[in-house]
This record gives sequence, structure tokens and C-alpha cells, in this order.
Amino acid sequence: MTILSLSPFAILFLYISLLDKTVSIRLSNQISDPVVDSPDRPLKSAVFALGSFWRSETAFGCINGVVRTTAGYSGGTKVNPEYRKLGDHAESVQVEYDPRVVGYRQLLDLFWSSHDSRQVFGQGPDVGNQYRSIIFTNSTEELRLATISKEREQLKSRSSIVTTQIQQLGTFYRAEPDHQKFELKQHPFLLQLIGNMAEEELERSALATKLNGYAAELCPPRVQKQIDSRVNEIIRKGWPVLKDI
Ligand SMILES: *[C@@H]1O[C@H](CO)[C@@H](O)[C@H](O)[C@H]1NC(C)=O
Repeated sequence: MTILSLSPFAILFLYISLLDKTVSIRLSNQISDPVVDSPDRPLKSAVFALGSFWRSETAFGCINGVVRTTAGYSGGTKVNPEYRKLGDHAESVQVEYDPRVVGYRQLLDLFWSSHDSRQVFGQGPDVGNQYRSIIFTNSTEELRLATISKEREQLKSRSSIVTTQIQQLGTFYRAEPDHQKFELKQHPFLLQLIGNMAEEELERSALATKLNGYAAELCPPRVQKQIDSRVNEIIRKGWPVLKDI
């Protein structure tokens, strides 16, 4: 096997593992999947409920500046909710983002454009209290921006009511591993491209966050195309690792 010439800054180490009779080559480097929570680059986080959290993660995952998404439960009172016993919680997504790249306002815009806030207690066929629409605010500034954006959304049409609630963020309970990066997990080939990460790493990975949006075809069209061509290039070269996108 020939190892392609790699940019010298990229490689810290390289290892080969045998999985499912296929050879998976895994490249770890700092550029590939930056973990950006360094003290000089503090992340912010925002929490929303907009229907199925499988889909909510994908809606936010591909946006420039979003570093990580986590599926979870929030908005209710039940302690330690689980998927089949989530009580009065709503399926939610926590979005960790770099405020120097993307702002809360843009996340709100994405929230509105990613679901139907006028459907009562549900999204499409997903009907029930757990799919209700909520903006969880965690500061007076978030509350101010959320309120303005909801008013603006309501003004777009008076024929129905925007059902979205604005609620003070309480506890956000992380959902079970099965529900994290759910869409990406339906695409074993993409998982392999990023080196079959262990669950814990997958849940923290900015690359996996983005690819999860790609897997659901919810990246902006330009980004979707860009990733398509990167994936095809890798397949053509026979180099089975996607380092960054
Ligand atoms: C909410 O705000 C508190 C205090 O500023 C902070 O410690 C916490 O991490 C925030 N929660 C989220 C989910 O951003």
C-alpha cells in the first residue's frame, strides 16, 4: 500500500486497524478535527427543541461555527429522563458554537427555518408533547433576541399561531448514545471515512457533527456539494480517510 504524500503539518501519528475485513487507516492530527474549547477560544452553547432530536442535530450540525451538537431532553420536570420514559420533557438539541464565527441570531434564524413552529405539539408525523417547539434561554440577552425573533416570525402570517414557547433553560439531560449522531450512524461508509471513532469521540467530534448534517442532506447546498466532492475524491484515490471538510 502506498501512503500518499501528506502535508507535513498534518501528521502526528498514523495507525492501521483491521475492522470487518477492511483495512481502515486512521489519521489523527490537530487540523482534522479541532477540539475548540480552549481557554482562548471559549464556546457558547444554546438549546432548542424543534421536533425529533435526530433531525435537530442534523439541522444545526453543518453550520459554520457550530462545533458540536448533542441530543437530549429538556423543558420538563422528570429527573433522569430516558427515550421511552421522557416524561414531560421535549426532545432537544444543545448546540455548541464559536461566537466569533456564528451568532445566536443566526442560530435563531436556523431554528425557525428548520421546522414548522405553527404545528401544535409535533413535526410532521411525529406528534406528541415531546416534539413541541421551544427556545430555551439562558441569559437576558438570549431572552431578548428570542422574543424579538418570535414576534417577527408571528408577523409573517396571522392565519395561525406560532406555538413556540420561550422557556428558561433548566437541566439539559444528554440522551442515550443510540440517539447521538443518529443520521450519521445510518451511513456506515461515512463512519468508516472518519476512522470508525469510538462513541465518546464521535459525540465530541466537530467533523462528525458536520457529517451528520451532510448525511441528512441538510447542509447548505454549497457545503453539501463540497463534501460530496471531497468524499468522491477520497474514493477515487483509494485513501479511505476524511480529515476535514
Ligand atoms: C447557562 O448559563 C450558565 C451561567 O452563565 C452556564 O454556566 C451554563 O453552562 C449555561 N448553560 C448552557 C447549556 O449553555
